[in-house]
Amino acid sequence: MCGIVAYIGKKEAYPIVVKGLKRLEYRGYDSAGVALLSDNMRVYKKKGKVADLENEANGKDVSGSIGMGHTRWATHGEPNDRNSHPHFSDSGDLAIIHNGIIENYATLKEGMVQRGHVFHSDTDTEVLVHLIEDVMQNANLSLADAVRASLKQVVGAYAIVILSKNHPEHLIAARKGSPLVVGIGKERGEYFFASDATPIVEYTNKVVYMNDGEIAIVENQEMIIKSIDNVVQVPYVQELEMNLDQLEKGGYPHFMLKEIYEQPRSIFDSFRGRFDATTGEFHMRSLEEYQDKLAEMKRLILIGCGTSWHAGLVAEYLFEDFARLPVEVEYASEFRYRNPVLFSDDLVVAISQSGETADTLAAMDLAKRKSASVFGVCNVVGSSIPRMSDAGAYTHAGPEIGVASTKAFTAQVTVLALLALGMAKIRKTMSVKAISDVMSELESIPSKIEKALELNDQIIKLAEKYKDVRNFLYLGRGYNFPVALEGALKLKEISYIHAEGYPAAEMKHGPIALIDEEMPVVVIATNSEHYEKVVSNIQEVKARKGRVIAVVTEGNRDLDKLVDHVIEVPETIEALSPLVNTIPLQLLSYHIAVMRGCNVDQPRNLAKSVTVE
Ligand code: G6P
Repeated sequence: MCGIVAYIGKKEAYPIVVKGLKRLEYRGYDSAGVALLSDNMRVYKKKGKVADLENEANGKDVSGSIGMGHTRWATHGEPNDRNSHPHFSDSGDLAIIHNGIIENYATLKEGMVQRGHVFHSDTDTEVLVHLIEDVMQNANLSLADAVRASLKQVVGAYAIVILSKNHPEHLIAARKGSPLVVGIGKERGEYFFASDATPIVEYTNKVVYMNDGEIAIVENQEMIIKSIDNVVQVPYVQELEMNLDQLEKGGYPHFMLKEIYEQPRSIFDSFRGRFDATTGEFHMRSLEEYQDKLAEMKRLILIGCGTSWHAGLVAEYLFEDFARLPVEVEYASEFRYRNPVLFSDDLVVAISQSGETADTLAAMDLAKRKSASVFGVCNVVGSSIPRMSDAGAYTHAGPEIGVASTKAFTAQVTVLALLALGMAKIRKTMSVKAISDVMSELESIPSKIEKALELNDQIIKLAEKYKDVRNFLYLGRGYNFPVALEGALKLKEISYIHAEGYPAAEMKHGPIALIDEEMPVVVIATNSEHYEKVVSNIQEVKARKGRVIAVVTEGNRDLDKLVDHVIEVPETIEALSPLVNTIPLQLLSYHIAVMRGCNVDQPRNLAKSVTVE
């Protein structure tokens, strides 16, 4: 949460910083601010979106080849101009932007107030900048040393950038627990700093992902990275595998729609080159290198948050069916605060699009401390979760920018299906032929999703009909129970309609009381072992005059007379049906949200990367 971006070099900083902030806006959009440095420091900050900041700065002096910017998701202090970053030291020399939470800010603030510092915001961040100035003045330290000394007093998570009016050639950045990437510019002395690589990609493809406890000091056109204990680190320079097209809307009105339509390609990318369906062979490094360890595993614990947790729920069925392993699926935020019983032959699989979700990271940390092995399934290359994992697999969905996750979910399910098949092979719970058959079916999924996307016009009509309702119910069984949860989550996230997902059979233990002629019920009724049971559940809804939208397998005409609307999706095996069945539900929530005038890509109160607990 919160996005930070900074530039030091010879170019004008403002356009680079503002463009970067727009790319990072998915991380929060409560307020935005910039600081620009040349022979003086100018600051503009504003409640609202980056566009509001641009209006604020319009016509004012935005010159300077050093600058930094922040887009905020409020934690401490309401979203207003005053609480917007950057924040300043008393002398006005130092400015700071921060992503994370300073947990001991109240204690530190008390000390600073006693020492005469005057606070101008309600944020936890502001204490840091006072502390650094205090240390710099009283211990007579250089700026970089004062930052290091101050950070030693901090409990919590941070990615920070600091500029100093009195040190106009300097830029200091540090990270612990919140992401920070450094782009190494093409010209000498040019560096970019950002919460992820998206603001950097059009200027350079050489990046360094900073590690926890590191501080980057740019001075006299050179950057050195040190540990917080002042030991010089050798940065690991990586090549970015990202291109600009992935970060643009490409003619679509919203990133979410673009990402929904990208799924045939993103699913293909998530399995491409990873297996050979004719031989049943896998080419996944993590499966090969980690094979012995995986063979010993007695239990899987899948952890994640939000949509990633839903992918974990689908994977529970996959691992049980294919690999015959006991599986538990846990919200990372709950798992981390329990006292879970873990063994060294447990494998904890952390699922995350961003790779930065604070609760998932903390749950992984707990699992490691309790001697379990940790495997990461993650989309963002170089993010914290893969770096903390013992082994893992990237989902390769490409950057996902819409806050409501779509293509990342189907890519996660795809990779988890492959892992379940891989485990089946290692544990010999499926024949090679059976594994090959599932692989062949997986190869056909991208074209089936193309077909499912052709439902768009039908779904627009449905959205028109139901856009004004106040509640929605989603029902599914087995593999499609998590799909019902995900369908409901998508709708509430972006359209603000209350929606619940339920296992179809559980409906009679509660939600059935809500059903009347006003209540639309989306039922996933594609071919499956439980199809007849699902039809009985539909009967129960219809008996109470609920309006049923049934997602059925192409060619199934049996429900035409029973339900109000039928959505036909291409046939696949039940284990892979979540990949196809999710598509019409994503489209339905998208169109309803658009028709209700909601900001689809940036729904209120949400952020894409939740780096606070
Ligand atoms: C936020 C996002 C969701 C996402 C969840 C977990 O709530 O808005 O779309 O599913 O975080 O994020 P992760 O990056 O760990 O998958």
